Amino acid sequence: MENRALFFAATTFSLLLLLLLPHPSTAASATAAASPPLSSTFYHATCPRATSVIRAVVQRAVAGEPRLGASLLRMHFHDCFVQGCDGSVLLDDTGAVEGEKGTPPNKNSLRGFQVVDAAKSELEHVCPGVVSCADTLAVAAREGVVAVGGPSWDLLLGRRDSLAPNASATIELPGPDSPLAGLREMFAAKGFTEAEMVALSGAHTIGRSSCRFFRGRIYNDANMDREYAARLQTACPPVGGDLTVAPLDPRSPDMFDNAYYGNLVERKGLFRSDQALFGGGGGNAVEEQVLRYSRNLSAFEADFAAAMQKMSALSPLTGGQGEVRVNCRRVNPAVE
Ligand code: HEM
Repeated sequence: MENRALFFAATTFSLLLLLLLPHPSTAASATAAASPPLSSTFYHATCPRATSVIRAVVQRAVAGEPRLGASLLRMHFHDCFVQGCDGSVLLDDTGAVEGEKGTPPNKNSLRGFQVVDAAKSELEHVCPGVVSCADTLAVAAREGVVAVGGPSWDLLLGRRDSLAPNASATIELPGPDSPLAGLREMFAAKGFTEAEMVALSGAHTIGRSSCRFFRGRIYNDANMDREYAARLQTACPPVGGDLTVAPLDPRSPDMFDNAYYGNLVERKGLFRSDQALFGGGGGNAVEEQVLRYSRNLSAFEADFAAAMQKMSALSPLTGGQGEVRVNCRRVNPAVE
């Protein structure tokens, strides 16, 4: 009798528990609803013209100044490596909060913000309050690459914008004097393989750098073509001229091709971090990949596009996280 009473009590308790606890699948779908994945159809219903609006603005900007394709690509990289692709890099300093723009990797260096502003303000006319700044930048970077002859990649959308920048996390960006081991570590920390890192580095086939970032290499690096170093020394004296620029790829600075890898084989990488991929004791796998890309444009383009797709999906905010900023330079005012 006692046993039966105990059995009933236990059964009733289990039933109650079952009723009160959320079903595992309900719990899972609640989490999924809070942060759904990025999607290829995200703006199909709410802003079908989103991509074409951004593309048109970027094409116009790059036609006026080809370097802007490179500048947008770099800005997207610096957005994604710092707290995920959340548009945090676009925030201006406020009296209370230091943004990411004034930090050492970005100050007097990141450029092209006016292109993102122009695309965003056009989007605000077409479909107000819908397209995030993080998505605007991700699309702008891709269109910047395409506009200078590079490959395209499928971009999933639905990123939301951060509510704050993260200036101290810009330390997670690699520096131009990083040795291979340091580069490997920094990219691995973001989930990239060494091979993906080598493919992403091919971004340096476009754009410019200011003298202060390559001065350390051109006066004192045995693994550099001497004639090329001498040429750069004229533009970049030991003292002064910090902001004078030189192309990252002297052969075709505004054409997204595989010349970067050919440059490395000739020891004409602009940064130590570039040349670290070849001839600096990098090891066979990395050097073989550099050689392969230098001979095979389509292999490089395919791997670059795949790695960009992965980079552009780094820790996005989605669903109810963050917000869609109206102005990419500041968070939305609090609603009373
Ligand atoms: C591997 C580690 C990397 C290092 C150490 C590095 C460092 C730098 C530095 C110092 C500059 C010159 C900035 C200036 O003078 O203002 C630069 C330019 C640039 N970087 Fe990187 N970068 C790296 C990887 C990447 C990646 C992964 C991308 C994109 C996927 C990228 C895209 C660019 C572009 C396009 C430019 C030219 C920007 C312009 O002309 O405005 N970089 N990088």
